[in-house]
Amino acid sequence: MKPQAEPVVHIDDERFKVTEWRFAPGAETGWHRHGHDYVIVPLTDGTLALDLPGDQRAEAALRQGVPYSRREGVEHNVTNAGPAPLAFLEVEAVGDPLHAARLATMERLMQGFNSRDLDLLMDCMAADCAFHASAGPEAEGTRAIGRAAVRAAYAAVFDAFPQAHWGEGRHMLQGDTGLSWWRFTGTRADGSGIDVRGCDIFVFEGEKIALKDSYRKARG
Ligand code: NI
Repeated sequence: MKPQAEPVVHIDDERFKVTEWRFAPGAETGWHRHGHDYVIVPLTDGTLALDLPGDQRAEAALRQGVPYSRREGVEHNVTNAGPAPLAFLEVEAVGDPLHAARLATMERLMQGFNSRDLDLLMDCMAADCAFHASAGPEAEGTRAIGRAAVRAAYAAVFDAFPQAHWGEGRHMLQGDTGLSWWRFTGTRADGSGIDVRGCDIFVFEGEKIALKDSYRKARG
């Protein structure tokens, strides 16, 4: 039975978790999977033995003060393979919960359109919300302002396209502005088909969408 490495948590807030790991010679962390991107800052020189999935093994040299980064998803058991005590700081980017919630809202809105679920769509929208459709007489397309108007406008999308699918969705976020892009395939009420790429620019209020501003390619 190997001794266990000792974790000392220095910071644990909504953005970062910083853990100092102290290893006696031969000590191990035990198997773990990293749920976040992270940076390791060695506090000592040393040698790590790494047990990896699939019975793979590796060795890594640590140099005091020389950091390295790894992606979320790394899975291993880490052992101090050297003759002296060893320590490093692990800095995990745990992420901003509001950022994660907004990305989840964009994904849920897309699911709501694909499942034609007006309640789910409106659950993604803020109390004070608007929808600017991709076509219409104004510079903004057609503007629906207020929850009742937005709900009616979403229902009108389903009426206009008895079959509709938003696929290949990707979402990103900068400050209060979100961007989703997708490929829209569907059938209009007259039976003609549509297959175009497009995007939504979102303005967020908290976790919810205050404005959905839609754009679609015009094929011709
Ligand atoms: Ni690890």
